Amino acid sequence: MTTARAVLDILPDHVDGRRDFRIFGHFLEHFHRQIYGGVYDPGSHLADERGFRRDVIEALQRIRTPVIRWPGGCFVSAYDWKKGVGERVPCYDKAWRVEEPNSFGTDEFIAFCREVGAEPFICGNAGTGTPEDMSDWVEYCNLDIGEWAALRRANGHDAPFGVRHWSIGNENYGAWEMGAKSAGEWARLVLESAKMMKRVDPDVELAVASIADLDWNVRVLREAGHLLAWVSIHGYWSSASDEGEFERGYDALVARAFEPEQRIITTKHILGSLGYLGRLRIAFDEWNLRGWCHPRFTDFGHVDHSLMDRNDINSNYNMADAVFTACFLNACLRHCDAVGMANFSPAVNTVGAIFTHAEGIVLRPTYHVFDLFTNHSHAEVLHSALSAPVWQPQAEGATAIRQLDAVITHDPSTGAIGIVLVNLHATDAITCRIRGLAPGDGAPALMRTLAGPSVDAFNDIDRPEAVAIETRQLSIADRGDFIIDCPAHSVSVLNLE
Ligand code: AHR
Repeated sequence: MTTARAVLDILPDHVDGRRDFRIFGHFLEHFHRQIYGGVYDPGSHLADERGFRRDVIEALQRIRTPVIRWPGGCFVSAYDWKKGVGERVPCYDKAWRVEEPNSFGTDEFIAFCREVGAEPFICGNAGTGTPEDMSDWVEYCNLDIGEWAALRRANGHDAPFGVRHWSIGNENYGAWEMGAKSAGEWARLVLESAKMMKRVDPDVELAVASIADLDWNVRVLREAGHLLAWVSIHGYWSSASDEGEFERGYDALVARAFEPEQRIITTKHILGSLGYLGRLRIAFDEWNLRGWCHPRFTDFGHVDHSLMDRNDINSNYNMADAVFTACFLNACLRHCDAVGMANFSPAVNTVGAIFTHAEGIVLRPTYHVFDLFTNHSHAEVLHSALSAPVWQPQAEGATAIRQLDAVITHDPSTGAIGIVLVNLHATDAITCRIRGLAPGDGAPALMRTLAGPSVDAFNDIDRPEAVAIETRQLSIADRGDFIIDCPAHSVSVLNLE
């Protein structure tokens, strides 16, 4: 084993930007055990009187979840929100081909978000739904007058919910989506929907289902861009097979760790070329290294729903997921001028950060990455230059990537520094020489590292802390020029007070 060397030069007086905390958001879809048996489990002894899992709420609070997108995903493209308020009407869910009981609807989602302390982000049905349906939903949530506000009051909620974030649609460009649209159809629908939603509540921030593709964006932004605040894009970089097999090779997975940044850059260029950079921001409102196992989704074969249980196998999620997640969040920080929101997909169960079982929860490695970023990085991103060796992952077709990723964050009110360091290498440690901070001695320095005992390490019911954050107190002789060790396959935050 060798130890490679990197150099990180910090320009502490040059602030690249200020992060929007909403990049640490999450997503929940009516899919398998995300809602029922996930966040909502009225039969569980771990649930509160409304049926919400208390342990899940506490876990989401600990990572200061700022925003939760709901109810889909593909589910929303045939969802009738009116069946999920007041008297509940169970129905057939045409996305995932199961019965949807509708017992968790808008009122429950709002109550759940309030418990967590997160802002609700509602994704509207722009598949089979109409501008009227979507704007009725805004009425239900945000108005004092009219038929839908009266229904909310009749359901026990006098005060409007005040939902600020709404998305028009989900992946409506894709053939797999119910009510998929051409770019021209999409532009008209978005314009009419935005018009009606803004007439109900001019303060809503609207996102539009989009993709890093110029043609798709040209039409919709030229027609409706003036009414929008966000373009929504999605990404999953490793697919599960229909049989529920998840990719396991660490090198092949981590070789894709900088691909999300490319997607952000492409989307930024599109916004720039259309004159919208700075006026619209990117909501990367579904993202995960892992795609979900939803067998026969696009070919209409009969679904064996039991295969979806394989999403919940905790050994699928290891240090590759953690390293990828950290690189994704670093990319959002680096491009904080353009990315204002991101929603890890999903929060709970499937390929998410938290796994629920009858007696508790398991925090997967990705959960701890959120802990590092939300609790130990800071609001400003400082300019820096990283010289890191190139690493060739040992996987067929993998391109060489830099071995280390780094972002410097700064709290302008206290002067505290949080340096995120990600060593992507499967086997080799790396040392990083950090230069440029104001010289000074002996200030407290804490290094929190998530590395796990191996690349395949994972957490599970019988080993909940196999992958956990380890904290070291460091003594740094001179903050202006010092060297830090980063173990193989690790995510660290170095805090200098
Ligand atoms: O695999 C999850 C699904 O992927 C979501 O429902 C959808 O939005 C995306 O295509």
